Amino acid sequence: MADKNKLQRKTGIILALDVTDEASALEITAAVADLVDAVKIGYPLVLGTGLSIVSKLSKYAPVIADFKVADIPNTDHLICEHVFKAGCAAVIVQGFTGPDSLSECVKTATAFDGKVFVVSEMSHPGGSYFFTDEISKEIAGLSRKYGAFGIVAPATRPERVKELRAVIGDDLKIISPGVGAQGGSAADTIKAGADWVIVGRSIYNAENPRDEAMKVKVEIEKLI
Ligand code: C5P
Repeated sequence: MADKNKLQRKTGIILALDVTDEASALEITAAVADLVDAVKIGYPLVLGTGLSIVSKLSKYAPVIADFKVADIPNTDHLICEHVFKAGCAAVIVQGFTGPDSLSECVKTATAFDGKVFVVSEMSHPGGSYFFTDEISKEIAGLSRKYGAFGIVAPATRPERVKELRAVIGDDLKIISPGVGAQGGSAADTIKAGADWVIVGRSIYNAENPRDEAMKVKVEIEKLI
């Protein structure tokens, strides 16, 4: 079972838990807890159950709040405070809001010994419409400059993971959504330089989520 609050790479898998009810969330998490390094939750689950779900999930694995925080520094601060007071290990924020917003998120996270991941590029087909290669790289550079723990880069475009890795070097972590349901491959994404793949629907919608998580774990292990 993953350490309650510490984000450590063991399997290289983060579960994106976008179910909307508590019973399913806890059942799926319990079934795969030893196969994943963290559970990523977002608006679907938190709006469905409330923020109290964090402490329940934290018994199994560190929780990452994917709220893609994107506001003025003061509002970002208030959101991040709620996230970390609830017991999350990390928060995902947007970088396009600029240096002051980003640094406020990092400052607030650090006060709680928490981590910040910055979205450098979305993983869906329309994700590169506004996030041009140059803008993504600039956001990755800002993330490094302002002390983020890592960035979010698309498993659906492993070549972009590689390019963004070159921008941040080994200083920051990369977490990559888009494996499975969105068509990305776990092996290709890790080979491109990601530290963790984020997998949602292909695990939580599977008849046997544990079997699916195990398949991804084995796929990553084969690379070592
Ligand atoms: O179900 P699936 O595996 O596609 O889930 C991917 C998860 O990663 C979802 O929670 C989605 O909101 C999130 N995400 C993403 N692309 C980004 C950032 C987050 O797919 N760039």
